[in-house]
Amino acid sequence: MKNTILSAKGLCKSFAHNGKQNHILSNLDIDIYEGDFTVVMGASGSGKSTLLYALSGMDRATSGQVLYKGEDIVKMPEKKLSALRCGDFGFIFQQMHLVSNLSVFENITVPGYLNKSRTSAEVDKRAEELTEKMGITHIKKQLPSQCSGGEQQRCAIARAVINSPELIFADEPTGALNRKNTTEVLDLLTTLNNDGQSILMVTHDSRAALRADRIIYIADGTVIGDLELPRYTAESEKSRETQINSWLSSMEW
Ligand SMILES: Nc1ncnc2c1ncn2[C@@H]1O[C@H](COP(=O)(O)OP(=O)(O)OP(=O)(O)O)[C@@H](O)[C@H]1O
Ligand SMILES: [Mg+2]
Repeated sequence: MKNTILSAKGLCKSFAHNGKQNHILSNLDIDIYEGDFTVVMGASGSGKSTLLYALSGMDRATSGQVLYKGEDIVKMPEKKLSALRCGDFGFIFQQMHLVSNLSVFENITVPGYLNKSRTSAEVDKRAEELTEKMGITHIKKQLPSQCSGGEQQRCAIARAVINSPELIFADEPTGALNRKNTTEVLDLLTTLNNDGQSILMVTHDSRAALRADRIIYIADGTVIGDLELPRYTAESEKSRETQINSWLSSMEW
């Protein structure tokens, strides 16, 4: 029996457009489980990023609840929410959003220093371990502009986990990468997940979805499909691909 890490109930999100409300999420219910590599898929514009932002407190839902450790983040005061985003949650985006005038190593350590749950020396030590794990030790003194896209994303992953978050939110983390870098980034996420890291990842890439323990499909502002999968192994890729592709076709993907 898996523990629920995040639970959304009756989640609604609308945006005002030309004087009328555009309903993107409508009464959406979802439980996310601890330790899972959960993937969210759906057509472009279906509200995947909107859902990720509402669940992570990057943006507030219009109504409904998002329960995390017994508290509703929809109603959480901004200061507390900001502490949650900096400590309990980690974020990875398609565009890495690294600070351009800081080195790779500094980009990784800054959220650690800001969080204050570790001393500076402990943050530095963890950052050293993470650069090793992400295979970017040799470029740790370089600026992001001196790194490849794949190296920048590996730096962004190290930054996302510097504070040992309970849950990582990733929005199309491989969207800007070539095939080789995509595989490297997915391998790192899989390694983190095998070490116990919970991940919630939005993707439109079925190769990325192969890594999932569970795929949630959204359309018309709500969950229309929920597929549970056995644990990913490289050997199981072929059979998973067939299963996932046939399920995605049934979702009219
Ligand atoms: N800040 C905003 N203001 C107004 N409309 C928005 C805003 N953010 C998103 N939307 C609208 O909400 C809808 C869903 O957007 P969202 O970015 O969540 O889609 P998505 O499923 O992530 O798409 P993609 O696969 O292309 O990234 C779109 O129609 C978009 O225009
Ligand atoms: Mg999106």
